[in-house]
Amino acid sequence: MRAVILSGGKATRLRPLTCNTSKVMIPVLNRPFLQHLVWYLKRHNIVDITLATGKIPDEVESYFGDGSRFDATIEYSTESVPLGTAGAVKNAERFLDRPFVVFNGDVFTDIDLTAMMDVHQRRGAIATLALTPVDDPTAYGVVETDDEGRVTRFLEKPSRDEVTSNLINAGIYILRPDILNYIPPNAFVMFERDVFPSVLEAGETMCAYPSDDYWTDIGTPERYLRLNHDLLGRDIGPRGLKFEGRHDIHPSAQVEGPVLIGKGCRVASNCTIEGPTVLGQGCQIREGAVIQSSLLWQDCEIGRGARLRDSILASSCYVGGESLLDSCVLGDNVRIGSGNQLPQGAKIWPGKSIPRGTISF
Ligand code: GDD
Ligand code: MG
Repeated sequence: MRAVILSGGKATRLRPLTCNTSKVMIPVLNRPFLQHLVWYLKRHNIVDITLATGKIPDEVESYFGDGSRFDATIEYSTESVPLGTAGAVKNAERFLDRPFVVFNGDVFTDIDLTAMMDVHQRRGAIATLALTPVDDPTAYGVVETDDEGRVTRFLEKPSRDEVTSNLINAGIYILRPDILNYIPPNAFVMFERDVFPSVLEAGETMCAYPSDDYWTDIGTPERYLRLNHDLLGRDIGPRGLKFEGRHDIHPSAQVEGPVLIGKGCRVASNCTIEGPTVLGQGCQIREGAVIQSSLLWQDCEIGRGARLRDSILASSCYVGGESLLDSCVLGDNVRIGSGNQLPQGAKIWPGKSIPRGTISF
């Protein structure tokens, strides 16, 4: 089976992290998100992958290339203008002559794709949709089903009073190729708003594959941070420490897991690193700094006595001594001078520089 990974959106909700980095490349446990997706697909014996995207981001092409480094085949299907989730799949029609999987490129899950493929084959529906329960379905596509697991209604981003079920579209579909007949070529078409409702209208059978397995959409900084936290606890244990290579941690530094420390990191004396935390490759943490539940991309520098909590720093950020960040999100190359206390939840755009001692909340 082939998988089409949709990765063409603008990822606006993940800004400033995605100002310079495409959503599929943002690091999860120090690996591009897409690599986790490729591993997942491989665990379910899917190695033929089409990445449906706008322009191929340079960093994607140089990291993944034709996929051979990951024992997979990656082909690229590009759009000169965004064609929507279904338009993008139609655009990749040349790769699709057998049943195939469509995967939203921002979904991380343990849903049992192999079992889902079995259900799809057994029931022979035109589409089988993975469903997952969420607390607030209004940000997703709500899917109603009957007692036999057939989809009866698909409602994208319902208002609160339209919500009839907490089961939502998990962004994973197994499709029969004839669904492509419902998608006009070279047009902006969405599965969620256009194709699924009209397929149901036409009386075709769509099946549901509900699952309680781990599922998240990394579409916002909060969910992206939570995914890293969840995976840390799971992959290296609730108190575990993992070092990815040469590192220099001063004996007086306190490191409480789960913490993942990238290659070449330096943690100076009297620092506290409290998990779940990830330090990307080459981070420098100066004397007495405190980092709690945070995620640092590569080459960040945290000054003496600075404190970070629940924050995400993209690559090459600098936080000066004694500065305080709580639930902040910094784009690449942000410079926070020393002695600043950023407002809780601040988002700072790439390259911005805040002089020392100018912000205090
Ligand atoms: N190639 C291409 N072209 N990909 C696109 C386009 C496009 O024009 N538009 C969106 N995508 C990709 C995005 O990159 C993302 O991986 C996926 O399609 C879904 O788009 P999002 O923008 O993330 O949608 P959403 O999260 O609001 O809602 C979707 O996902 C939910 C689950 O996370 C819908 O499918 C909902 O029904 C679903 O519940
Ligand atoms: Mg999404």
